[in-house]
This record gives sequence, structure tokens and C-alpha cells, in this order.
Amino acid sequence: MSIIRGANVIVCATPADVARAGAARVATWLSAAVSARNRATFSLAGGRTPEALYRLLAETPNRETVEWGSVEIFWGDERCVPTDHPDSNYRMVREALLARVPVSEANIHRMRGETADPGTAAREYEELLRRACRIEVDTLPRFDVCLLGLGSDGHTASLFPGLPAVRETQRWVAAAWVEKLDAWRLTLTPALLNNARHVLFLATGKEKAETLRAVLEGPMDPDRLPAQIVRPARGRVEWLLDRDAAGRLSPQMTQTRHGVS
Ligand code: 6PG
Repeated sequence: MSIIRGANVIVCATPADVARAGAARVATWLSAAVSARNRATFSLAGGRTPEALYRLLAETPNRETVEWGSVEIFWGDERCVPTDHPDSNYRMVREALLARVPVSEANIHRMRGETADPGTAAREYEELLRRACRIEVDTLPRFDVCLLGLGSDGHTASLFPGLPAVRETQRWVAAAWVEKLDAWRLTLTPALLNNARHVLFLATGKEKAETLRAVLEGPMDPDRLPAQIVRPARGRVEWLLDRDAAGRLSPQMTQTRHGVS
């Protein structure tokens, strides 16, 4: 494990090792949160990379480690599509995790990507967060675990390069028009991501290697590389990478341990 810009960077041999290490970490953190506060709040990532981790979370030993009845599920971002659409992050998480663990429906807080007006959906989700996280005035929800991915353009959640939401410090949720996707997205903003206790980034594959080098070792430029904006003041950041994704990081930064580190 290496420390880069205050973040723990762990390099595993394969994507399967990343999923295994990630599932074990998430299960441990959720279990610790329930022991400490009788509930755990978990913000999930979309995209392809976390799916294997979600499947392993629902399997032994992780499944038994977590008191699922005390876990509240949130999303870091969503595509503006119906829940049965193949691009729906809700659908992916439902199939890979929620349909396979005893989380109560009342504790599943999804972003309503199907809402005609994304701006309304963003405001509604902020209200939902305020209620679900029992938030007093001037405080922010504090996720116990916040899972994030990395796009090869440096985006995380749906904070894409050049979007105003990358610099958002007041609103917790934003509706973002992503020109290059010709699509709307709903996303948590850095205001919330940077209040998490544990932020876990997952990145695998050669196509992420150059972006990872730029994000972790290049000059700070969050408007161009939004993943750099995630630096919780009172939380921990870990990057779980496979060898391919870590391939462009400077050697002294990446002691690979076979299997899981
Ligand atoms: C989404 C994600 C997004 C994702 C990256 C990486 O909804 O797409 O939340 O931020 O993490 O795009 O996606 P892959 O894991 O598919 O490479």
C-alpha cells in the first residue's frame, strides 16, 4: 500500500482481486458503523467496475458480516433513464446486491432518474437525504462508506470535466447535462462526497492507467480531472486498483502484492 496525496493506494493483481478486497473492506466498514451508531449509510457507485464487488458483498463471508437491516442505501449518481433500462445504476445494484441481501425497502433511497425534469429529481433527492439522514440545519449527511469509480476522462460519480457541479459547495445533489453523452445525469456534489468517513475508489483496466497517473501524480486541476476534487477533510480515501490500471503510476508508488493487499 502506498500513500499518494493522503490517499491509500492499493494495487491488486487482477480485477477479481480488486472486487474481493473491496467487498471485504466495505463489509468491515459497514459492520463497524452499525456497531458504533446502530446504522450504516452506504453511497453506491454505478458503471461496470463495482458490479463484481456488489455480488461478493452478497456472498459469504461478507453477507454474514453486515447487519443489512441497519444499512441505508444511497446512490452517488444516476443516469436519467427508467429503472428497467440497461443503463440504470439502480437496476444494476438491485440485481447484483439488493435482491440478494435483507436490506429493508424503506432503507433503499434511489435517485429518480426517470423523472421528466432532472432539476426536480435533484432537489427531491436532496430533500430525501435531509429526511433519511435526519439532518439538522447547517449539517451535512456523512456517509459511512462512499464508493466511487473513475471514468477515463477523469470524471467520478457524474462530475464530468468542466461541469459547474465539480465546484459545488452548497447543493448536495445536481442535475448535470453531459454534452458528450447527450444525456442528463443526477449526481452528488463534492459538498457531500467530501464529508464521507470512507471513500473507496475502484479502477481497473489499461484504459484508466494514464488518467490515474494524472489524477494521483499530475498537477491538481479538478475542472479537468474531477476525481481530484474528492478529498474528505475528516475522512479516509482509498484507491483499489488492478495492475493494469496502476501501470502508469511511478514504480515507487505501486508495490503490487499478489492477490489482495
Ligand atoms: C456511472 C458512474 C461513473 C463510473 C465511471 C466508471 O454512473 O457511470 O457512477 O462515475 O464510476 O464512469 O465507469 P466504469 O466502472 O463502467 O468504467
